[in-house]
Amino acid sequence: MNIVLGISGGIAAYKTPDLVRRLKERGAEVQIVLTASGEEFVTPTALQAVSGRPIRNNLWDKEAEASMSHIELARWAELVLIAPATAEIMSRLAGGGAPDLLSTLCLATEAPIAVAPAMNRVMWANPAVQANRRLLEERGMTILGPDTGSQACGEIGAGRMIEPEAIADAIVGAPGSRRGALAGKTVMVTAGPTREPIDPVRYITNRSSGKMGYAMARAARAHGARAILVSGPVALDPPYGVELHRTETAEQMYAKTHELIGDVDVFIAAAAVSDYRPAGSHVKKIKKTADTMTLELVRSPDILASVAALDPAPFTVGFAAETHEVETYAKAKLDKKRLDMIVANRVGADCGFDFDDNAVTVYWPGGEQAFAEAAKIELAEDLMALIAERYETVREEAEPRLVIVSSIAASKD
Ligand SMILES: Cc1cc2nc3c(=O)[nH]c(=O)nc-3n(C[C@H](O)[C@H](O)[C@H](O)COP(=O)(O)O)c2cc1C
Repeated sequence: MNIVLGISGGIAAYKTPDLVRRLKERGAEVQIVLTASGEEFVTPTALQAVSGRPIRNNLWDKEAEASMSHIELARWAELVLIAPATAEIMSRLAGGGAPDLLSTLCLATEAPIAVAPAMNRVMWANPAVQANRRLLEERGMTILGPDTGSQACGEIGAGRMIEPEAIADAIVGAPGSRRGALAGKTVMVTAGPTREPIDPVRYITNRSSGKMGYAMARAARAHGARAILVSGPVALDPPYGVELHRTETAEQMYAKTHELIGDVDVFIAAAAVSDYRPAGSHVKKIKKTADTMTLELVRSPDILASVAALDPAPFTVGFAAETHEVETYAKAKLDKKRLDMIVANRVGADCGFDFDDNAVTVYWPGGEQAFAEAAKIELAEDLMALIAERYETVREEAEPRLVIVSSIAASKD
């Protein structure tokens, strides 16, 4: 993708060499356009070195403008990203002004425009800035962030530019992206463990960290989908642009999943849902009296099977984490629950839960594919590409064929 990266004069401009690197990692060509104020915060030399292209910072560049370069740039761009976007550039975009190269090319381009605002929290809350934000959104521009947190000015609040990695993630799946295999689709992912209370202070859980499920939700977003993440209790930040719903018990996760499943095209069950839960939770803390104690457990609802059994069911993908006979158990689960796909991995003291890397084999009716050990983030990208491909195939096979029967009236004479 050809991205024109506009850098305006906010303190967050110091993060842009990192942003350029992350966009390039994702295969983008990046042409930087720097405002005069932007140049106060980050040098053209640094940006030129990371982008590998000469910086454009002047509408009145005689050499470049001999060939109407601002129009050429506007045409070359498949996406214009402004990061950081100052209150001032947002005002120029809203007002349709074109006093410099960046605002001129924004008027002249037919490419989508995405804006990552960055400013002091009081500036961001200012009604004029908010009116401009609304106007830009109404005109179809994508507003990325801002984040809430500590700011360069020492204050805490909304206005921080979202992190370069989150911007790059959002852009990869943004309108105009070529990696939109799941554009217009809704993907729901369940992630993490569940917690089944024994009494007010104790619970049953498992070692799932949620890393694989969160990486899958991030990858779904990066492939252009609306991504819904139904998560058990984990210590992870949600990926940017993903709709997060927090749950604790298997029953809560079941209820949230079914509340939202109506819109879902692809359902990915990466959560490690407790198979059993205590028969009844004690209202008061259980006291240490007897030498032994017996806990009665009952089956938890089977979220994956219940979704696969819906009519119509979304394209349903399960995960099978097994310590042994991984293939046998995974294939049995694929059959028994009538899934479209199952991702099988071995878990144990040295692999699986809570590790950053994973190696898996995916099975589907009539096929399989192995994925070598890789970082969960990268593995999730590859798995999502396979899911998108299989989803298309299954959908095409399921589509009723249009049969044209032509009847030719036989003439008697
Ligand atoms: C030290 C310093 C930091 C600034 N940081 C920001 C900022 O984070 N966000 C913002 O909207 N404006 C910020 N400004 C103000 C802009 O630089 C100013 O409005 C400028 O006209 C923006 O021009 P541009 O949008 O063409 O880059 C800052 C100014 C200074 C002097």
